[in-house]
Amino acid sequence: MMAEVARVLASSKNVIAFTGAGISAESGIPTFRGKDGLWKKYRPEELATPEAFERNPKLVWDFYKWRIKKILKAKPNPAHYALVELEKMGILKAVITQNVDDLHREAGTKNLIELHGNIFRVRCTSCEFREHLKESGRIDEILSEDLPKCPKCGSLLRPDVVWFGEPLPSKELNEAFKLAKEADVVIVVGTSGLVYPAAYIPYIVKDSGGVVIEINVQKSGITPIADFFLRGKAGEILPKLVQEVRRIL
Ligand code: APR
Repeated sequence: MMAEVARVLASSKNVIAFTGAGISAESGIPTFRGKDGLWKKYRPEELATPEAFERNPKLVWDFYKWRIKKILKAKPNPAHYALVELEKMGILKAVITQNVDDLHREAGTKNLIELHGNIFRVRCTSCEFREHLKESGRIDEILSEDLPKCPKCGSLLRPDVVWFGEPLPSKELNEAFKLAKEADVVIVVGTSGLVYPAAYIPYIVKDSGGVVIEINVQKSGITPIADFFLRGKAGEILPKLVQEVRRIL
């Protein structure tokens, strides 16, 4: 199966990758719906909502500070690097990710679309203020504040990520849908494929006549439309696949 998938990739000109939390699992970042997806007694779905933030901003910020700390310790893994290599080979056109962990960028992916925001960005709940904490060098400051405040107007800051019930950034979503329509192959990596509208992406590729390749340790919401399902860890399968593609080219 691996050899056949490699042949499909080697003969494609317009491949996109659609990734989820599973691609970062081997970097030590817990996924959302796995057995480690719990923080204290809460499920992410109970914390990553505008209502939870309204009700208890401290609780939600504590959850995000915990995640920021975890992500700061994490490094990209061989799966992230394999996608960088595929991009350099001129096969992969874009990575569309649901992850907020910045690891695709850290690994070196150039054309990256972040559908759910980025955990290192914050924005003000009242004014237009936005900040990228890696650029401003204020990560430690934010982590040490009980409730991070806007340096401009003093209102509450919030993580610049998409919460349940919130719309996705329209520029990113439109770009992702356009790429999906044009793609001849999508590699779906480490997502449960349950959260919409992001999960439409493989469906759009399929409906437009493209091929769906899935890499996951278990079946997902996308598996029913997958033309190829490679079961296993992304950090093991993706590098092998890219090596095989390189051999053919
Ligand atoms: N390699 C490949 N797949 C893996 C690995 C691994 N090493 N480890 C776990 N997986 C798979 C799981 O089997 C599961 O299908 O990764 C998937 C992770 O699923 P979720 O935790 O649901 O993450 P994701 O699909 O990215 O969630 C979507 O939900 O909470 C929101 O906004 C959040 O972007 C997130 C969205």
